[in-house]
Amino acid sequence: MVQWTDFERATIQSVFEKMDYDDVGPAALSRCLVVYPWTQRYFGNFGNLYNAAAIQGNPMVAAHGKTVLHGLDRAVKNMDDIKATYAELSVLHSEKLRVDPDNFRLLADCLTIVVAARMGAAFTADVQGAFQKFMAVVVSSLGKQYH
Ligand code: HEM
Repeated sequence: MVQWTDFERATIQSVFEKMDYDDVGPAALSRCLVVYPWTQRYFGNFGNLYNAAAIQGNPMVAAHGKTVLHGLDRAVKNMDDIKATYAELSVLHSEKLRVDPDNFRLLADCLTIVVAARMGAAFTADVQGAFQKFMAVVVSSLGKQYH
């Protein structure tokens, strides 16, 4: 089981409490779709993903970015059992959506970049360490039901 220090717990709670999901979620997902264009293949029903402007202005991308952050919220509230919390979501991404699990890390990295940009100087190395550890556990848990 993953061990969290008091600092890591407090940091994760605080970063997510202050986060504007309606801003950060769409920004992270659209960045992922632009930077790693092959991730667009899973969103074939989302309409126009023709270029960066289209992706950033696409309301389905924005809505889904918020959904992803609300999904992360569940891990924030269950930091001691993220694996079980995500068992069902992992099965969904694996068996129904058939998302290559390598892509979880790419979205996690885009989210980290957006959070860093929004937090500015407050995104210290220690905060980054805690955030990336949290996202690494999320990525690993989402990949657990793949076989
Ligand atoms: C941090 C990683 C991720 C989290 C927390 C996450 C979370 C979620 C959640 C909560 C849903 C909605 C599930 C439901 O409707 O019951 C979802 C759906 C979906 N996810 Fe993910 N996801 C992640 C990464 C990815 C990645 C990297 C891809 C593809 C590149 C992806 C593709 C999809 C697709 C295609 C759907 C269904 C969208 C729709 O048609 O509405 N996810 N995800």
